[in-house]
Amino acid sequence: MPIITTIQDLKDLHRRRTPRMFYDYAESGSWTEQTFRENTTDFEKIRLRQRVAVDMTGRSTASQMIGQDVSMPVALAPVGSTGMQHADGEILAAKAAEKFGVPFTLSTMSICSIEDVAENTTKPFWFQLYAMRDKTFIKNIIQRAKDAKCSALVVTLDLQILGQRHKDIKNGLSIPIRPTLPNLIDLATKWRWIAGMAKTKRHAFGNIVGHIDGISDLSSLSVWAAESFDPQLNWEEVKEIKKMWGGPLILKGILDAEDAKMALQVGADAIIVSNHGGRQLDGALSSIRALPAIMDAVGDKIEVHLDSGIRSGQDVLKALAMGAKGTYIGRAFVHGLGAMGEAGVTKALEVIHKELDVTMALCGETQVRDLGRHDLLIPEDFEGRWQA
Ligand SMILES: Cc1cc2nc3c(=O)[nH]c(=O)nc-3n(C[C@H](O)[C@H](O)[C@H](O)COP(=O)(O)O)c2cc1C
Repeated sequence: MPIITTIQDLKDLHRRRTPRMFYDYAESGSWTEQTFRENTTDFEKIRLRQRVAVDMTGRSTASQMIGQDVSMPVALAPVGSTGMQHADGEILAAKAAEKFGVPFTLSTMSICSIEDVAENTTKPFWFQLYAMRDKTFIKNIIQRAKDAKCSALVVTLDLQILGQRHKDIKNGLSIPIRPTLPNLIDLATKWRWIAGMAKTKRHAFGNIVGHIDGISDLSSLSVWAAESFDPQLNWEEVKEIKKMWGGPLILKGILDAEDAKMALQVGADAIIVSNHGGRQLDGALSSIRALPAIMDAVGDKIEVHLDSGIRSGQDVLKALAMGAKGTYIGRAFVHGLGAMGEAGVTKALEVIHKELDVTMALCGETQVRDLGRHDLLIPEDFEGRWQA
């Protein structure tokens, strides 16, 4: 059993145990990957204020996200094809999140279906919706999320059109894996993954196959998916989705203060400052750099969450201290899943929790809700001087 002390350890194991095309699918950004890289390097630019001789007993990371209790304000982000990183991946990640007391968000593009995850868990999870051209699909899937008792709808706004990730094209990313010689050679070393996949029936996009007229197999699915994201999505449509859903609504993919104000106007309960983990607009600001302007614009009127680039509890603390009420991890949990299934996701959460707790203590804080800018040393030019 390898000794795991960091998210990087899980990432190394993930790379060794998962077919290359799926590892690369997770560990890549769009085009030059500038935004993908800066999501993590910008966190490093912020330093922490060490305080001493402060009573650090009775610490707690417990908090709330959209009024729901969480053991720490770190949710699992929606990640498409999670069930390809490890057999039954969405169910395993949802179980780990449930036991840890943090929200799990199921992607529209998941392998395990909404119903499947609901049957295999005992507490409500969150559902992420991609706005599709097919309005019947939207209506039906929102109803399915309601029937499954999902406790929040996360609507992703930054993927009306797909950012290009070069590795996916070069690897010939496909479900199931195309039996080319390089893929077969790679698979020969991934026996754990193959054994897992051989035991499960869940190999296709469970929320879609069998739920849309004419989509019954993988080839009809790939045609549908390529044409389905709605390039005409607009704020009126977001309002309609809100009305259809009728429950807590989180808008994901906000990176600009003007869009944050729009999200407030349409009545969202929270926004996620996010650039999709650097997978969409290459050249956009990192999320942590975009956060201050958004906090200034709407921070006192709406709950602000953040994702993209979080790889440690120190990163979580920095985001919270800069005003975010909650955070999400994408790749950090996917690395855990690809490395060791449910135990790996639990490990990722444990690593981040421990780092958050100890960092909080060494900053002289005992309660996650008390974190603030006073805990940070932020370079004067951190936000940058940009001309629009
Ligand atoms: C492999 C992968 C697949 C993703 N799929 C989705 C998705 O289906 N829906 C969505 O809203 N975001 C998706 N995202 C974005 C994540 O929800 C999240 O914004 C991002 O992973 C955060 O960055 P991080 O990975 O650096 O933590 C995906 C991210 C990755 C890495």
